[in-house]
Amino acid sequence: MQDDQEQPHLPGVDASKATDESVLRVHAQLRRQRVEGSPVAFFTAVAFIIVFVFAWFYGRRYFAEMDSAGVLAEREQIAALEAWKARPKEPAGPVVIDGAQLYAQQCVACHQASGQGLAGAFPPLADSEWVTGEPELPIKILLSGLGGPIEVKGVSYNGAMPAFGAVWDDAHIAAIVSYIRGSWDNGASEVTAEQVAEVRAAIGTRGAWTADELAEHF
Ligand code: HEC
Repeated sequence: MQDDQEQPHLPGVDASKATDESVLRVHAQLRRQRVEGSPVAFFTAVAFIIVFVFAWFYGRRYFAEMDSAGVLAEREQIAALEAWKARPKEPAGPVVIDGAQLYAQQCVACHQASGQGLAGAFPPLADSEWVTGEPELPIKILLSGLGGPIEVKGVSYNGAMPAFGAVWDDAHIAAIVSYIRGSWDNGASEVTAEQVAEVRAAIGTRGAWTADELAEHF
């Protein structure tokens, strides 16, 4: 016991007071502790820690990649949307507007599919000197309308032709005038949007023409 006194390596334990009984008690306690802290529990804990560390490490990388993939996809969508917004509003080539379709939608009710009009009410466009003469004449009529007494192919009419200048741009007016000049064996030249633009600029915004105002074209 003399040796123990000189080496008090157990803090808080007064070796001088150790009895056989107390030594046995301490040893029993130590044995118990060793059973409680069994190697199985220790290795399980270590295994958990390793798994956790790996999961954390790779999980972070995995989700970071997922995230950047999501961000890239989103950027692509935004770029596509921007490109769509910035798309050319007019086709690069010449604008093709279907004059036949415009006629079917806007003119056929009065002037008929045959272009013959309706006797006494709507004058014919087929073989009409108003249509096949100077291109400015039908352009003017389409832009601003026509009213009052007129004569077409020797027959008198007195109705009201609606104006289309406010609803159609130059290209549409050009398409419909070209259509009526080229249909029903009319065989007159096509007109361009530029020609329409010139006439539009020259006449400005105005009410329907009368036959007298257009007499210069005959
Ligand atoms: C609501 C009926 C109506 C519609 C729709 C109509 N017109 Fe007319 N159009 C008339 C009438 C009526 C006249 C004769 C006006 C007058 O008596 O002063 C006329 C006259 C004309 C004339 C000159 C006279 C002639 O017979 O050549 C042209 C050209 C013409 N219309 C083209 C068109 C075209 C092209 C459309 C379609 C974009 C159209 N019209 C739509 C009723 C209509």
